[in-house]
Amino acid sequence: MSWRQLLREITEQLMTAGVPSPRADAEQLAAHASGAPRSRVRLWAAVSDPVSDEVVAAVRALAERRARRIPLQYLTGVAPFLSLTLEVGPGVLIPRPETELLAQAAIRAAERFEHPHVVDVGTGSGAIALAVATALPQARVTALEPDAIAYTWAAHNLRRFPDAHVTLHRAAAADLPALAGAGADVVVSNPPYLPDEETPLDPEVRDFDPTGALFGGPDGLDVIREVISAGSAVLTPLGVLLCEHTEDQGERVRALCAEAGLSSALTHPDLTGRDRFTAASHVPVDTMTATRSEVPA
Ligand SMILES: C[S@@+](CC[C@H](N)C(=O)[O-])C[C@H]1O[C@@H](n2cnc3c(N)ncnc32)[C@H](O)[C@@H]1O
Repeated sequence: MSWRQLLREITEQLMTAGVPSPRADAEQLAAHASGAPRSRVRLWAAVSDPVSDEVVAAVRALAERRARRIPLQYLTGVAPFLSLTLEVGPGVLIPRPETELLAQAAIRAAERFEHPHVVDVGTGSGAIALAVATALPQARVTALEPDAIAYTWAAHNLRRFPDAHVTLHRAAAADLPALAGAGADVVVSNPPYLPDEETPLDPEVRDFDPTGALFGGPDGLDVIREVISAGSAVLTPLGVLLCEHTEDQGERVRALCAEAGLSSALTHPDLTGRDRFTAASHVPVDTMTATRSEVPA
């Protein structure tokens, strides 16, 4: 069998199973099974090189699991996040591309301080904490994660980046005041925020993401309330709080920030134009992040 035939077979199998990007997934599974970079797999397919029976069997076994909509990243064991490659598996949220915008905003906010203290609440795989710590070596990062399995994944990823200054605590948002020491210049969080009643459409999310990483109570705002309440209490005078949310929670999140005494709040869209995260501060939130809607207190 040739690489071209194998990739065509796997792509069709994944397409039939409803996988959203069947060709890309087929190439990534083939790369994982063969131990070669994806670019090499594409080259082999282009010139129609032969593929060994052993690799064919390995790719087919992976494809069979992907066709059951097991997330690609659980099969390959890795997920990209900005310039990082994080290790992930069952029990931890796979970092999402839209959260990269939140992490970049946190980096921009922290850059304004000489030696910023940044707190990542609900760190999961450690994605945001590590993105900040690797981008800003002068930063001190504290990461909080209450869930035992997610905590283990975060600890694992932190060990892979020994130069990053991240301190991990098995703790929830409400524990922040006890852990923030002299305060935080940036509090950043991608908390669980789906309303409990919501059923995610994608099988990868519905059937495999840990529920504790997705659902935030009847209106989805339970953990966001905790983050804003505890986060606002520990912000330094020029500090910024950044919190991800659904596209229709921006107004309520800005109102919660105002109730917590944060005098300005701006909600920012993701690359699809949907509201994605809100930045709030005791002082006017400036151009460190693109502007959208402002609700002064
Ligand atoms: C949507 S996931 C985000 C993970 C990671 N920050 C990311 O962006 O990929 C939310 C994380 O918050 C954690 N979490 C749940 N309840 C929490 C709480 N009350 N305080 C802090 N974190 C919480 C979950 O265990 C989960 O790891």
